[in-house]
Amino acid sequence: MTDTDFRNHLLAWYDNNKRDMPWRDCGDPYKIWISEIMLQQTRVDQATPYFKRFMDRFPTVHDLAKADQQDVLKVWEGLGYYSRARHLHAASKLVVEEFDGKVPNTWEEINELKGVGPYTASAVLSIAYQKKHAVVDGNVIRVLSRYFGIEDDVRSTKTKNTIQDYADDLISEERPGDFNQAVMELGAMVCTPSNPECEKCPLQANCVAHKTVKTEDIPYKSPA
Ligand code: ADE
Repeated sequence: MTDTDFRNHLLAWYDNNKRDMPWRDCGDPYKIWISEIMLQQTRVDQATPYFKRFMDRFPTVHDLAKADQQDVLKVWEGLGYYSRARHLHAASKLVVEEFDGKVPNTWEEINELKGVGPYTASAVLSIAYQKKHAVVDGNVIRVLSRYFGIEDDVRSTKTKNTIQDYADDLISEERPGDFNQAVMELGAMVCTPSNPECEKCPLQANCVAHKTVKTEDIPYKSPA
C-alpha cells in the first residue's frame, strides 16, 4: 500500500462511517476551536452536550469575550479541567482585540492563544483552514504504531516524534482536516485499545500489527 492508497482507503472509510458531530463539517473556526479544546481531555460523547450548551450561550467569539468569567465556568461545570475554560475566555479576548475577531490561521499566531498547544494548533489549522498540519493524539498513536509495527515505548518523546514524522508524510494535501479526523475516528471506532475490529479496518491489508498478530502488544507503553 502506497501513501496514496493509505489516504484514499482511509478517507473513503471516513466518508462512509464518520459520526455526526455538531462541529463537524461546519467550517466555523470558532466552533472548531472550542470543540478541540473540549476534546483535549474529554470524549466525544461526553463533550457533545456541553458543546451545544456552550454554543447556545456563546454563539460567537464576541459573545464569549464579553461574558463574565463566572458564566463561562458555569457552562463548563462538570467537564473538569477548568483551566481550559479560563484560558479559552482569555484567548477569546485576544482574538477579538488582536485578531479582529477571527481565530488565527497561522501556526505562530494560533500558538499565542492560551490553551493552544501543538495538538490543538494542528487540529484547528487543518480542520478549519485546510492547512497541512498532522495531529498526533492517543488515537493517532495507536493507529500508526500498529500500522507500522512500532514496538518502541510510545511514552517516549523519540517514539512520538517518529509517529509525528509518519503522520506528516501521510497527511492528505487536498483534505488535511478530514485526514486528521479520519485517523482519530478510526482509532475511536475500529482500532480500539482492546478488541480492535480489524475486519472493518480500511488499512487492514497492510497493517503490521494485524499481520503479525500483535494488536494486543502495540502500542507498547512502559509502566508509568
Ligand atoms: N478528537 C479530537 N478532535 C476530534 C475530531 N475533530 N474528530 C474526532 N475525534 C477527535
